[in-house]
Amino acid sequence: MGAIGACRNDALVFVAMFPVRMRVVLGVIIALVIALVSSAPALAEGPWPNDPQGPIARTIAELYWIMFVAAVVVLAIVDGALIYAGIKFRERPGHVAQQFHGHNMLELTWTIIPTIMVVSFSVLSWQKLDFINNSRGGDVGMVVQAEGVQWSWNFSYPHEDRFRLKDGTTYLTGAQELHIPVGTKVRIELSAKDVIHSFWVPSVGGKKDAVPGRATDLWIQADRPGTYKGQCLEFCGDGHADMLITLVAHPVSEYPAWIDAAKVEAERINAPETARGRELFRSLACSGCHTVRGLTGGKFPGAPDLTNVASKPSIVGGLVSPVNEENLRRWISNPQAVKPTTLMPNLGLSEQQVTDLVNFLLILK
Ligand code: CUA
Repeated sequence: MGAIGACRNDALVFVAMFPVRMRVVLGVIIALVIALVSSAPALAEGPWPNDPQGPIARTIAELYWIMFVAAVVVLAIVDGALIYAGIKFRERPGHVAQQFHGHNMLELTWTIIPTIMVVSFSVLSWQKLDFINNSRGGDVGMVVQAEGVQWSWNFSYPHEDRFRLKDGTTYLTGAQELHIPVGTKVRIELSAKDVIHSFWVPSVGGKKDAVPGRATDLWIQADRPGTYKGQCLEFCGDGHADMLITLVAHPVSEYPAWIDAAKVEAERINAPETARGRELFRSLACSGCHTVRGLTGGKFPGAPDLTNVASKPSIVGGLVSPVNEENLRRWISNPQAVKPTTLMPNLGLSEQQVTDLVNFLLILK
């Protein structure tokens, strides 16, 4: 207590050595330095559009920069005038503070200039919005459907014949992955199964809500091959933060090869011999949690991806090893008997259902 008191006294004595005005100036400088240092990490990330990689993202970034620069200029002029007037006309020894009432020229200036600015920004925004909202123009090269479900995105390509599977159904990516070719205008038709979600991949496009019972769409385009991260942007429940989007843009020349590989994977999952098991997997609680690429995107982050479960040496932390018919039967018939703490429920399956499910799981190599 004594030491702290002495220390505080020393600090007060030190501060008192400076004249009042200098203390104020010092205080402001110290506060500014603290503010700058503490916001440095945020500035490195940037409170501005990062790394635009497509026409829409670039348009939004341009609009942002125009408004940002205008705002900085306005800030400098207004605050500059404010500080200048505060110093120049203030009360001080031998000088009475000056009072002003009404100045037509000044008032007209600061009414007309902001009006012109606001109107220009509006017109500019409308023009850019026309471009951004033009998802139905003739230059659309591909159409994708995106369905938001708590808490995952399912992407399918029912309008694209090249994605058609042998049984006439359409390819569906699970695992929240959307694959598109580079340099192609892609219209995304949005729907929502349960609550409102929002599609957003900032590097390549704007964002749009997916609303139950209502059709919405947007378009995106990627300039360069790469993987771009997206996120559901409408709070939609517990798993909202895990409702991510992985957008993969392939070089145009490599895209057909990706489609072929994806279809091979999907056909394997679609094999008629295992149709009963696949339907069970889809209709029972399994698909609610587990991802199987090409079939369903799992919505429970803790549940393992089962796309290649049959080629794993073991599962359930080694408790089910090797992954064969006998061990899989034992596991899904009564999960708690194998691992008492598992979150996977005992679904009370019949012998036949277990057989069908195991047959399906065994083709997931
Ligand atoms: Cu879906 Cu947030």
